Amino acid sequence: MNAITPASTERLVRVPLGERAYDILIGPGLIARAGKEISARLKGRRAAIITDENVAPLYLDALVASLQEAGIQSSKLVLPPGEKTKSFEHLMAVCDAVLTARVERNDAVIALGGGVIGDLAGFAAGIVRRGVRFVQVPTSLLSQVDSSVGGKTGINTHHGKNLIGVFHQPDLVLADTDVLNTLSEREFRAGYAEVAKYGLIDKPDFFAWLEANWKEVFSGGAARIEAIAASCQAKSDVVVADERENGPRALLNLGHTFGHALEAATAYDSRRLVHGEGVSIGMALAHEFSSRLNLASPDDAKRVETHLKAVGLPTRMGDIPGELPPAEVLMDAIAQDKKVKSGKLTFILTRGIGESFVADDVPASEVLSFLREKHP
Ligand SMILES: NC(=O)c1ccc[n+]([C@@H]2O[C@H](COP(=O)([O-])OP(=O)(O)OC[C@H]3O[C@@H](n4cnc5c(N)ncnc54)[C@H](O)[C@@H]3O)[C@@H](O)[C@H]2O)c1
Ligand SMILES: [Zn+2]
Repeated sequence: MNAITPASTERLVRVPLGERAYDILIGPGLIARAGKEISARLKGRRAAIITDENVAPLYLDALVASLQEAGIQSSKLVLPPGEKTKSFEHLMAVCDAVLTARVERNDAVIALGGGVIGDLAGFAAGIVRRGVRFVQVPTSLLSQVDSSVGGKTGINTHHGKNLIGVFHQPDLVLADTDVLNTLSEREFRAGYAEVAKYGLIDKPDFFAWLEANWKEVFSGGAARIEAIAASCQAKSDVVVADERENGPRALLNLGHTFGHALEAATAYDSRRLVHGEGVSIGMALAHEFSSRLNLASPDDAKRVETHLKAVGLPTRMGDIPGELPPAEVLMDAIAQDKKVKSGKLTFILTRGIGESFVADDVPASEVLSFLREKHP
């Protein structure tokens, strides 16, 4: 058992989006307090909880009891875990469950789970009755630092990931840090890649803090809460500057162009690669590619790789178990993921640690020769 973290370590990050503004609470014991926190903010007295089969046995009863104590009646839908759940079929099931529970516009859909459940339940909350209230109770590190904040929701189709969805901001995010103790070490590390990403985008001091404190972040307690709060603050800042991704929100895709290509190349097989691992390799590659283009010093690329490796994340394509398709096929995946205008790609590049920028004129030929070199 970890020592009980004092309540004073709880953090609140406010996302100031005008009439869509909301609070993110980060700290221990928040599931037990969920009913109280929700009823203080929402008028409705009904909720439909959406969760998955891994999370339900661990936390569903506690959430239901907490809602009940606050006078909120809830229904539950438990879905299979995994990326395949972000489908039309499951979206229908969620919409049906929400309507069956007679959730009206002031009532809430509650997502209890990782990013898969959050994206799917959020989409349903955005379209049932043209939008009902939505509460995120993210249970993976990735969902606590990234997917539960910002209002992007959606599902996958055979055309690709996240191609169908809506923007629908949550009304409240409850990131209970105790639940991370049951997350697998591998999933925790994968979420950590997104934490490091915020430092690499534009917070060099945060990256240096992570280099010094990552062990405490992994072991739990105050440093972990601090890292999650700093990440939510960073995400909130970007979302507030550009809610619908017309510009700077694209910086959140640092490492994701290479990362998505690797996820596609491994057919989204989580035994080989999970999203955060792809992002880790992608960030290492983005820094190395930037130094190759003489934008950043090779020392910075080395520093990024050293840190990601230290926490146990993969940093090279060769770290992925099994065969990868040739560089040309990876390049096709990148081109599909991006708008290619006359042989030029939009890419997140960097001038150094914490100095990322959107480059919209990266020659596809340069990317291909870099990939050939890294993956002969
Ligand atoms: N909406 C956004 O802005 C945004 C941003 C980033 C990622 N995403 C999406 O998020 C998804 C990935 O999210 P994820 O990494 O959380 O994956 P996930 O939801 O699949 O969760 C990972 C695994 O951990 C399990 N799990 C979750 N919490 C647990 C806990 N506390 N204890 C034990 N097991 C637990 C889940 O059942 C699952 O097996 C992807 O679909 C991605 O597209 C969305
Ligand atoms: Zn990501």
